[in-house]
Amino acid sequence: TRTQVAIIGAGPSGLLLGQLLHQAGIDNVILEQRSADYVLGRVRAGVLEQVSVDLLDEAGVGARMHREGLVHHGIELMFSGERHRIDLAALTGGKSVMVYGQTEVTRDLMDARREHGAPIVYEAEDVALHGFDGHAPTVTFRKDGVEHTLACDHIAGCDGFHGVARASVPVGAIRQFERVYPFGWLGILADVPPVSDELIYANHARGFALCSMRSASRVRLYVQCSLQDKVEDWSDERFWAELKSRLDPATAERLPTGPSFEKSIAPLRSFVAEPMRFGRLYLAGDAAHIVPPTGAKGLNLAAADVRYLSRALIEHYADKSDAGLDDYSRKALRRIWKAERFSWWMTSLMHRFPAGPGDTGEVGHRMQTAELDYLVHSQAAMTSLAENYVGLPFEE
Ligand code: FAD
Ligand code: DHB
Repeated sequence: TRTQVAIIGAGPSGLLLGQLLHQAGIDNVILEQRSADYVLGRVRAGVLEQVSVDLLDEAGVGARMHREGLVHHGIELMFSGERHRIDLAALTGGKSVMVYGQTEVTRDLMDARREHGAPIVYEAEDVALHGFDGHAPTVTFRKDGVEHTLACDHIAGCDGFHGVARASVPVGAIRQFERVYPFGWLGILADVPPVSDELIYANHARGFALCSMRSASRVRLYVQCSLQDKVEDWSDERFWAELKSRLDPATAERLPTGPSFEKSIAPLRSFVAEPMRFGRLYLAGDAAHIVPPTGAKGLNLAAADVRYLSRALIEHYADKSDAGLDDYSRKALRRIWKAERFSWWMTSLMHRFPAGPGDTGEVGHRMQTAELDYLVHSQAAMTSLAENYVGLPFEE
């Protein structure tokens, strides 16, 4: 079989790219190693920038998001036992973010693809990429024990951090930049109302905490934990007690609690692979970069890559011009490094760093408190936070 664009991975990057190409009349096949249920079962991002919302609208999958998503005009920072509101809208000329889970975005994109009948192969085994340095790339895979070869013009590597696309590039052709943080995030989902209408990011001597939500009756909560911790070490009782200890007494007092129905630990890393194009292979989303989750940028960066890549592929077919494809990596990386910087900064500002070299331990905590105190009293500093949080503009 043959298609125009072979897409590896059915996470948000792959599904969104497939949808935008399909709308432009460009044939594509998505190959995903997991099942649809497995993909939908992964609990991840919850905050969409305005530009990601716009892109989902453009892709024709925004209806349910506008009905069920929560528009947030501010966030709260908590430190030294006090809450401070950052008025995102006032600081950015009216911009906001949308609280709508990655699971829901994925479901909407899957539904759209099913409606169009565009091909997607779940549980594709041993996906392998060939010939992308020439003009006739192919992708081989096995489905239900049968070997298949898919011929294509282009391959989009949308297969996440542990995917096969980046790993297929010769080591000499790629540079990788990485920083691993000395802690993780323990996250839970619970069907209780949020303690506040807006997200609370807390800096506390016991460690970072984040009160987020999925709806008016479902919360997503995180506490900084040790990398040695296992999910089994964290009973619901221990989780709620730890979260409360990191909030101011009034908020802790009012915090609705209940049984969790999802609990997982995520490591934190900053990672960028350069470049993002190798002949006719293009990387997008987590396949090319990872941010620590503190700035809520991961899914949004994936959408931004897909925006640039889809426009470049459409230009390639419609105008017979490769200008967009030739410029894809440079343009995407310029925006990615700014989001990497913001996510690294917000992570550094909000977490407890174990004592060691640099601004860690007690000194580090004092420095953070001083920076936060400066931040919430400086219009300039708050504006910088706000314009990054709602999302930086695109280069056209
Ligand atoms: P993925 O979602 O990883 O999808 C890649 C797909 O490729 C997967 O389905 C995988 O099964 C498939 N695949 C892998 N290998 C192969 C193979 N060999 N063959 C075929 N298919 C393969 N981002 C935000 O913007 N805001 C947030 O609030 C936020 N919070 C987060 C919280 C947590 C706890 C975590 C873990 C992440 C968070 N993120 C957040 C990041 C966000 O979830 C990711 O950036 C996003 O999932 C990237 O999408 P993707 O499609 O590029 O990659
Ligand atoms: C969520 C995750 C984040 O990393 C963040 O900064 C805000 C919200 C969430 O899962 O809801």
